[in-house]
Amino acid sequence: MTLQALYAVFVYPVIYILPAYVANGSPVLFGKGSRPLDFKMKIKGKRILGDNKTIRGTALGIASGIVVGAVEYPLFHMFAAVPFFALIAIAALLSAGALAGDILGSFIKRRVGVESGKSVPVLDQYGFFVVALLLASPLGYLPGAYGLLFLVALTGILHVLTNVGAHKLGIKKVPW
Ligand code: CTP
Ligand code: MG
Repeated sequence: MTLQALYAVFVYPVIYILPAYVANGSPVLFGKGSRPLDFKMKIKGKRILGDNKTIRGTALGIASGIVVGAVEYPLFHMFAAVPFFALIAIAALLSAGALAGDILGSFIKRRVGVESGKSVPVLDQYGFFVVALLLASPLGYLPGAYGLLFLVALTGILHVLTNVGAHKLGIKKVPW
């Protein structure tokens, strides 16, 4: 493998996806005490989303993903000559997609009777990731197939590590 190929598979994809990771991970720091996004409304006796999806967590999650996109612009630009506004748009779609995917996951979990905070493997780890990539992909600059495969592996590993870490630090109630 050339150095360039290594960058394309292991470095660029991480720079690309970072706004989605930050948008997905930061609400745990912001959400405490905020109103639930579903205003406690129910469908057929079950909460639409549950208490763990909050207004502040969602808004600040998206905002922090966009800020990270703006801050890492010079790094991104080393790999792809992308105009600043396009990069902000990518960061915004990745961040909004990450939150939308996570919220969609909670919606599905509530419909099938899984309580807030109870885990559903794969959905919990990859819901945000898939929707973030789907939303941002029309703007281009997507990592290649091997880069995306690397991100699939990294996303699974990071999800486990960050959630266990946040639980140990007392930030998160459950370690998943
Ligand atoms: N959070 C938030 N708003 C969001 C997502 C998360 O405020 N849109 C905050 C909440 O404080 C939540 C914490 O981040 O308790 C952890 O989020 P997450 O792991 O996604 O919650 P789960 O316990 O998995 O909830 P669910 O069962 O609905 O997926
Ligand atoms: Mg969750």
